[in-house]
Amino acid sequence: MARELSEVGVVGLGTMGAGIAEVFARAGLSVTAVDVDDAAVQRGRGHVEKSTGRAVSRGRLDPADRDAIVSRIRFTTSMDDLAQAELVVEAVPERVDLKAAVLSALDRICPPDTILATNTSSLSVTELSVTTGRPGKVIGMHFFNPAPVMKLVEVVRTVGTEPAVVEDVEALAARLGKVGVTIGDRAGFIANALLFGYLNHAVAMVEDRYASREDVDAAMRLGAGLPMGPLALLDLIGLDTAHQILGTMYRQSRNRLHAPSPLIEQLVTAGLLGRKAGRGFYTYADRHSAEVVADAQTPVAGAAAAGARPVRSVGVLAVAGPKADADRLDALVPAAASAGLPVARVLAEPGTGPEGWTGPVAGLANADLVLVAGTDDPAVFAALGGLVQDGAVLAATSSGRPVVEHAAASGRPADVVGLHLAGPGSALRVAEVVAGLLTDPGAAATVHAFCARVELPAVTAPDRAGRIVDALLFPYLNDAVRMLEARYATADDIDAAMVSGCGYPMGPFELLDLVGLDVALAVERQLYAEVREPGLAPAPLLEHLVTAGHLGRRAGRGFRDSRAR
Ligand code: CAA
Repeated sequence: MARELSEVGVVGLGTMGAGIAEVFARAGLSVTAVDVDDAAVQRGRGHVEKSTGRAVSRGRLDPADRDAIVSRIRFTTSMDDLAQAELVVEAVPERVDLKAAVLSALDRICPPDTILATNTSSLSVTELSVTTGRPGKVIGMHFFNPAPVMKLVEVVRTVGTEPAVVEDVEALAARLGKVGVTIGDRAGFIANALLFGYLNHAVAMVEDRYASREDVDAAMRLGAGLPMGPLALLDLIGLDTAHQILGTMYRQSRNRLHAPSPLIEQLVTAGLLGRKAGRGFYTYADRHSAEVVADAQTPVAGAAAAGARPVRSVGVLAVAGPKADADRLDALVPAAASAGLPVARVLAEPGTGPEGWTGPVAGLANADLVLVAGTDDPAVFAALGGLVQDGAVLAATSSGRPVVEHAAASGRPADVVGLHLAGPGSALRVAEVVAGLLTDPGAAATVHAFCARVELPAVTAPDRAGRIVDALLFPYLNDAVRMLEARYATADDIDAAMVSGCGYPMGPFELLDLVGLDVALAVERQLYAEVREPGLAPAPLLEHLVTAGHLGRRAGRGFRDSRAR
């Protein structure tokens, strides 16, 4: 039977500590909240008042309940006030010396059966536990930012944590209304281990000038359905925290993809730590605000469409091929028609030329913009290049090959653009517009203008495998498969962690089953083949499942039914 804890403490009242104190107080626990000096304590109190005040102003919390919550927290600068606590969570900055000092002080002050929990995101809980005289009572209790909103708590047990302590903390997490996932002590636990490789990769994309910060963020929000883009999320987490987490993950994994991007390092050195500093990747209206102010780097709206060629009619060449490609393109046809653009839709069997195509081929030949779906075969562009009128723009919607290959095959390389339609299923959420090495900027602008006309948000993406969305999403999915393969956590726990810790619309295994394991493997092979980065090599488990015909939902079995093995 788990103990029912009622007297708890929090040490360190930054964003996380103050949020954790609020979570405890909301659940009716009596909280002692400690920080080093009056200024820090006042800041902590300010966080709680602001957060609960916001809930009141949104009509989600009664003013009387807000007062009761705040009154359940005793703010103090004295650690000795924790002498009665049954559990204390430390949430001081992510430095092993600081955390060890706090835990040893707690070890002296608190009764021997008090549970000492650390909210560390990446440091070894085991290493911290042995700095106390009670390693069996030390456990990780990892909350997610903003703590009052995100439902996940990772309960991290070390090899020495007593089972009864794990049980008490699991019961506490449930009482707090959180989703508790219990796991062993490994850098990044579940959620950060899967999140930070992706965040670091997004920074590298911006740093290498493959895409702008706005385009990366918009692509991931719209194309992958994530609540925030990766750069906005890094600003929320704090660049210093992110740097620390990546550093620890890299030291443990030696995976180059975890080595903190130099841009993160420079932002930290410059003190641009994200929202809490008023500036990180973006500039914020004030230190605590999520509101972004325009700054020098913000592109002028509409600039991407300057120099666009006129589009009076659209041609669609649908080659019988992957169904998702055809569905996506079909979803675009009514939008074009309602924007007053006549559409000539021509069907083709793979490997056939215009003489074998069915439909209004003459309409296709006279179109100003021709969209090609269902094929990665450059021969189709060679055929189209000889057919369409001068000045027409040819857009490749499949993303299996670089745009430059289609451009070179077409005989009119300046006119060929990539238009990758990203979004879950056949839903169109965002277009990734790709200018290849030989593309005329006016041709790319034509595609941007077309997207604006059919009211499809568009971003500018690099002519690289996976563009933005797939290049960032699939390595994360692959990392999740590797985590399952290493038996660190179950597919259910990994899915739950990403949904409740990071607000993802679905977990990686649900998404893999939905996308199709074979499709995922094909994208991952493409990403790996481009740069030969070992960290991008497809997980053997994914290869095996595809070989065994476990292709996901459409095959009736994928990760969901293959978990037992
Ligand atoms: N404190 C308290 N409550 C907050 C809050 C905060 N800082 N920010 C938002 N909220 C509440 C709001 O009051 C609102 O609640 P109601 O609906 O009851 O009014 C709700 O959250 C939604 O807020 P908004 O409508 O203002 O904004 P949104 O819909 O854009 O959601 C978000 C904001 C919850 C932050 C959402 O964007 C999100 O889920 N983002 C992903 C965050 C994430 O990934 N966190 C994990 C980071 S990793 C980590 O923390 C671990 C680590 O070790 C670094």
